[in-house]
Amino acid sequence: MLAGLKRLEYRGYDSAGVALVTPDGELATAKKAGKLSNLTDDLEANALPLAQTGIGHTRWATHGGPTDVNAHPHLGDGGRLALIHNGIIENFAQLKAPLVAEGFEFTSETDTEVAAAQLAKNYRATGDLTAAMRETAAQLEGAFTLLAVHADLPGTVVAARRNSPLVIGLGEGENFLGSDVAAFIDYTRTAVEIGQDEVVTITPDSVVITDLAGKVVPSEQFEVDWDTASAEKGGFSSFMDKEIHDQPQAVGDTLLGRFDTEGKLSLDEMHIDENVLKSIDKIVVVACGTAAYAGQVAKYAIEHWCRIPVEVELAHEFRYRDPVVNEKTLIVAISQSGETMDTIMAVRHARQQGAKVIAICNTFGSTIPRESDAVLYTHAGPEIAVASTKAFLSQVVACYLLGLYLAQLRGNKFRDEIALILKDLQTIPEKIQRILDEGKDQVLGLARRNEDVGSVLFLGRHVGYPVAMEGALKLKELAYIHAEGFAAGELKHGPIALIDDGQLVIIVVPSKRGRDSLHAKVISNIQEVRARGANTVVIAEEGDEDVREFASEVIYVPETSTLLAPLLTTVPLQIFAMELATAKGLDVDQPRNLAKSVTVE
Ligand code: AGP
Repeated sequence: MLAGLKRLEYRGYDSAGVALVTPDGELATAKKAGKLSNLTDDLEANALPLAQTGIGHTRWATHGGPTDVNAHPHLGDGGRLALIHNGIIENFAQLKAPLVAEGFEFTSETDTEVAAAQLAKNYRATGDLTAAMRETAAQLEGAFTLLAVHADLPGTVVAARRNSPLVIGLGEGENFLGSDVAAFIDYTRTAVEIGQDEVVTITPDSVVITDLAGKVVPSEQFEVDWDTASAEKGGFSSFMDKEIHDQPQAVGDTLLGRFDTEGKLSLDEMHIDENVLKSIDKIVVVACGTAAYAGQVAKYAIEHWCRIPVEVELAHEFRYRDPVVNEKTLIVAISQSGETMDTIMAVRHARQQGAKVIAICNTFGSTIPRESDAVLYTHAGPEIAVASTKAFLSQVVACYLLGLYLAQLRGNKFRDEIALILKDLQTIPEKIQRILDEGKDQVLGLARRNEDVGSVLFLGRHVGYPVAMEGALKLKELAYIHAEGFAAGELKHGPIALIDDGQLVIIVVPSKRGRDSLHAKVISNIQEVRARGANTVVIAEEGDEDVREFASEVIYVPETSTLLAPLLTTVPLQIFAMELATAKGLDVDQPRNLAKSVTVE
């Protein structure tokens, strides 16, 4: 069990735990916040009884901080049932209320404990853990992989999944379940994928998969031919590649549970008085690097939706310029790690000036959320590669949710207007997936053809401008190539002098359906550089034929609204940087000179 958890350790997490069922029907558990070694040390000091049946979990907190109490497994049925869970249960509050009324006592802040109590209740009613799991899965909304054991059933593990991975490992006289094959690849390479809304019951010599109606589902085995290292990356060649492909899930999970079908937003981590939010007259984003570019993208949307001025400040510059900040200023601190010292210091400075602070962060319980008045967590999952990808898209989505929440609160947008924007946002995961499925090879070819490029200019206008800067940063970070992102309109004010024959220029073109004449203006910017010999690669919306005559190559992305376009146009730029670095034989996960979290000023 611990070896399997160890295999998953690289993913980063904030707590771990196990639950074992002995042959004579005793359920024993251990769980610890912090690194896996904390659990291992605890188990060495307080050994659990021998058992052949068990479940183990490493947690990346979404609901409830990284504490021993919030660590999984969570118990039910008087401590005779244990449950572990990956994902986000959107309706856990609705499920919790009647359980509390029935006398269930909850000890943690997690959505998982509610699922454990619901499963226990269903088990008490049916006497069949598999049937109870089917009923529970049908009652849950959101994303989940659930694994459960019960003291009544030595030798049995029951699991269910929806929108979260689960795979079976078929051994000799033993069977396994894991969120990916890395968990059991040391014991077997014969695996079975579990489909959406399916329930599986395993014993040492049987595996039965059913749908939620109890109908047996045929299963197809496959052999895992990855080596251990690539198994840890889900079969991808690098964490960078894996995390680029995680982006549909990261965006979807960041949206999960934050609004209803009528477009009403409910940001339950938003503990700032509504009247304070109604009174703010300025928003200042403080962040660094890619997080700052996410803020730049969000600026266009929040100003358009809320009619509040938004400034985006590099955190390391913010406090030294003696900014005008007061109790009517809302600070939005964006940080994947939550530990960037520049951003921490900016938050502290702003709070001393009386401002309220909202953190947008991917790491539960880290310093920046702890020192903020409220937090909106991105649910991108652990981001291991130093260069940020899925966290960036999730930060932009979280900023959009914040902007729509403020627009709803301050009455700038009607409910139906917000519902339309949310509906568009919900199509983004599948559109990112289409880019990954259909466009990756084209970008790979572009990278291979430009393996020896010396410098690249990125151009964009409006929300395409921060995308251009982010694309340049990715290329610098990963391929060590000088690159610069410009506002396309700025070129003629000097930078156009950089253009000479063959200069690679990548231009992010806005939708033709967007702001008046912006599309035409970018076309003329492309003509300006092309006339001076530039090699123009264009990122444009499907169906935009106007760009073809001015582009050496066009990379199309699916159509979406102007303000949401960065969630799509960024993806080819991420792939380009990764593939160019790979072509140069560079380490895309650990680029030289860089750290994943810059914890010094
Ligand atoms: C992004 O690819 C870089 N790794 C870097 O710019 C990063 O975004 C920046 O250091 C901020 O980190 P944070 O989001 O953890 O605060």
